[in-house]
Amino acid sequence: MNYDKIDRKARKVMEANDRGLYTVPTKGLYPYQWNWDSAFAAWGFSTYDPKRAWAELETLFQGQWDTGMVPHIVFHKQAFGYFPGPDVWRIPRVPHTSGISQPPIAATMARAVYEADKRYGRIHMELLYGRLVSWHRWWMQNRVENGMVAITHPWESGRDNAPDWDVALTGVDTREVGEYQRSDTTHIDPSMRPTKLDYDRYVALVQLSQNAGWDEARIAEQSPFRVADVGMTFMLLRACRDLLHIAAEFDHGTDEIEGWIGTLKQGVKAHWNEARGHYDSVNLRTGAFTDTLSSASFLNWYAGIRDDRQLKHLGRVLDEVAFGIPSLDPGDPRFDRLKYWRGPVWGMMNALIGIGLAETGHTVLAERLRKDTQRLVSEHGFYEYFSPVDGAPAGGGAFTWTASIWLTWASPHAKGRF
Ligand code: GLC
Repeated sequence: MNYDKIDRKARKVMEANDRGLYTVPTKGLYPYQWNWDSAFAAWGFSTYDPKRAWAELETLFQGQWDTGMVPHIVFHKQAFGYFPGPDVWRIPRVPHTSGISQPPIAATMARAVYEADKRYGRIHMELLYGRLVSWHRWWMQNRVENGMVAITHPWESGRDNAPDWDVALTGVDTREVGEYQRSDTTHIDPSMRPTKLDYDRYVALVQLSQNAGWDEARIAEQSPFRVADVGMTFMLLRACRDLLHIAAEFDHGTDEIEGWIGTLKQGVKAHWNEARGHYDSVNLRTGAFTDTLSSASFLNWYAGIRDDRQLKHLGRVLDEVAFGIPSLDPGDPRFDRLKYWRGPVWGMMNALIGIGLAETGHTVLAERLRKDTQRLVSEHGFYEYFSPVDGAPAGGGAFTWTASIWLTWASPHAKGRF
């Protein structure tokens, strides 16, 4: 295998998706700036262009609200072929944005970008730091319940149609949704995408928050959908640890961030589903576990939680598929190898889980994940996701975050960790 050639192709993908000061996840299907996709993009750029890496993060934070919230999409300029666009969200600010957030991995990626070139990055980190803190504070003040991070919309999790949300979504009233035209199913085979009922509920939740004036307290009071996402808790905990590291290096106060870490560590305990023996999301409206073993359940090591009770599940899941880690336990009856977040393997999730495993000494498992991802990308290309059963590529092609994690982690020439 000519890995130099694949490295060059990865950069070509980044260039093709580059809109100057931000990247799109992929042409056509996702024509705007997405929050956690951009954090991955910044990490990817940091392997060869620190200036461009910082621009990516700074452009993302142009969308930050006065509340501290960093939206899941920033609509810098009108594009066609995406639903729901700025006309649906109707947020009265410039640049236009969506009204919900996405996994807060930016602090973690900003730290990686900074550490790739400290001399260049120092001033950029100084400038971004306060914005990162206010985003984290927004999560802690509005979304943390019993130490766990709540989402108000499935899209916030970054795992749009994951089974974790199924039960909570049944409470969403779709009678007022009205007519709308999806565009994702004109780009991608509809059988791989969320269903019409899923979409009706997604739109209904947007309308509900809109009617609540995007007021977090009112949304919390009125929405039937409020789920503590195990992936979010782990990713925010990790990001707080990285923020703490930066705070210490830049001589900023650390007390507040240490408090957040303590709270989230307590929350991790509340995510432990004893009956099933793994970390799980929790439906906050009922207090019930979602009984879902997803790839996000394996982010504990990434969050710095050395809980090896999970190794049993990890070993089993890896042995049941040809390419790990599937987004859903293959033993779950809801498993569907090509349906988005209900089975397929995603390279960026592998990178996060693999980094966590390597950092906590599980180097053989970490290497296995890296090799699986290496094969998927080198044999098929920079796809959005792949079948864990046979590696068949699916979703959008030429994806930014798949190229990024190739350059930073999966390529044999990558550094492999932060
Ligand atoms: C889908 C994914 C989400 C991602 C977005 C853009 O909505 O579920 O995680 O950020 O596409 O790639």
